Amino acid sequence: MSVRLVMLWVHLVGAVVWIGGLAYQTHVLLPAARRGDPRPFAEAARRARPVTWTAVALVVLSGFYNVTQLGPLERVMQSGAGLMLAAKFGLVIVAVAIAAQRDFAQVPILDAAVRHGGDATAPLRAVGRLDRVVLLLALVVIYLGLAVSRASPQGGPGE
Ligand code: HEM
Repeated sequence: MSVRLVMLWVHLVGAVVWIGGLAYQTHVLLPAARRGDPRPFAEAARRARPVTWTAVALVVLSGFYNVTQLGPLERVMQSGAGLMLAAKFGLVIVAVAIAAQRDFAQVPILDAAVRHGGDATAPLRAVGRLDRVVLLLALVVIYLGLAVSRASPQGGPGE
């Protein structure tokens, strides 16, 4: 068992927890909230935040570690992995910014509406829209992750 493999495992488990949790919330819990009682969704979205953001932090940190294991820079650039990695990094920044807007702006608005008997329609719609964008970005990011992994020379210590 190498550190490199463990970090790759952390990277993938973190991605599964973040994106899987988001997909469950938005495709299973959110439609029910929009049809009826928004309270269970508001509570789930609030309670999911620590898990989500721990997973995001682990994915990003392990991602940076993965970059250090890709091998010599010229070969990474020649193989095309460098460009794909740059694109992936840009999309991850956008996805994290949107996820933060959802969790730290829209979810509190939803929470306040639910607690004070206000109208939850607008924040529920906003959360749904933001989630769809993050899920679409995640599809591309996962593809790019796999492509980087297969295109890169994978040098580094011990190889
Ligand atoms: C700053 C953020 C990130 C960085 C710097 C990063 C970096 C990397 C690198 C360098 C690899 C190649 C690892 C290797 O071949 O040894 C990789 C693989 C991968 N990444 Fe990321 N990543 C980031 C975020 C994400 C996110 C958010 C997701 C998913 C939502 C993701 C999903 C994947 C997947 C599926 C692989 C393929 C693993 C494999 O085939 O072995 N990454 N990442």
